[in-house]
Amino acid sequence: MQTKKAISYLFPTKIKSGTTSKGQVYEINFENGYKVLNSQNANYSYGSLHQIMQKGIFESLKIIKPQRILMLGLGGGSAVEILSKKCAWPFQIKAIEFDEDLVKFAHEEFNIGRYKMLNIEIADAFEWIQKASEDGYDLIIDDLFIDDQVPEPCFELDYLKTVSKQLTPQGIYFRNMMNLSSNQQKAYEKNLEDTFSQVNCTKAKGFDNLIYLCRQ
Ligand SMILES: C[S@@+](CC[C@H](N)C(=O)[O-])C[C@H]1O[C@@H](n2cnc3c(N)ncnc32)[C@H](O)[C@@H]1O
Repeated sequence: MQTKKAISYLFPTKIKSGTTSKGQVYEINFENGYKVLNSQNANYSYGSLHQIMQKGIFESLKIIKPQRILMLGLGGGSAVEILSKKCAWPFQIKAIEFDEDLVKFAHEEFNIGRYKMLNIEIADAFEWIQKASEDGYDLIIDDLFIDDQVPEPCFELDYLKTVSKQLTPQGIYFRNMMNLSSNQQKAYEKNLEDTFSQVNCTKAKGFDNLIYLCRQ
């Protein structure tokens, strides 16, 4: 394993790859000395995605000290690692992930079990959010992707309104977006503005992803 890691500074070295029971093509590689989770056409966790998560989380932490956090889409758990390093206060994370195999890899390959503040529920986020009691989360990280595509329901007003009901009054909804056409972006921003009273959009240096931070 150490050799694979060393070689990965020159070129990526594969640890495992395949298709999950949910039909997601995945690869776990060492890249530049880091173990990463990739989908067919995108990085899911610990690679470039990590930097985008970092930007969104750092910006959120300038505004709020979240104690209750909801993560829609666990992947390998990059965001959990960032939060555990940055939040020097007691907090809980609830993560909703529909792909059992990815949850297994998060444990086996990324040692996600070491984070005792993390509670993972295997469920479809769109079904889960409809039934969720309004518990009040200070930070919602919505990073639902299928490969490099944002699932269609994430754009819809009904979904955004349902998610927004899970926020505490000061809470932040953080959405990572990519690959939007300009029409999609306009329509999406209108729906965000119809849901939240504050909508800010930023980018991580060197990336095209749009990072939306929204508040009620
Ligand atoms: C980009 S990854 C999330 C990475 C995560 N933010 C991190 O910090 O490592 C996107 C995740 O969304 C999950 N996902 C996609 N659609 C879902 C759904 N309907 N319900 C739950 N999880 C879903 C995928 O299985 C994948 O694990």
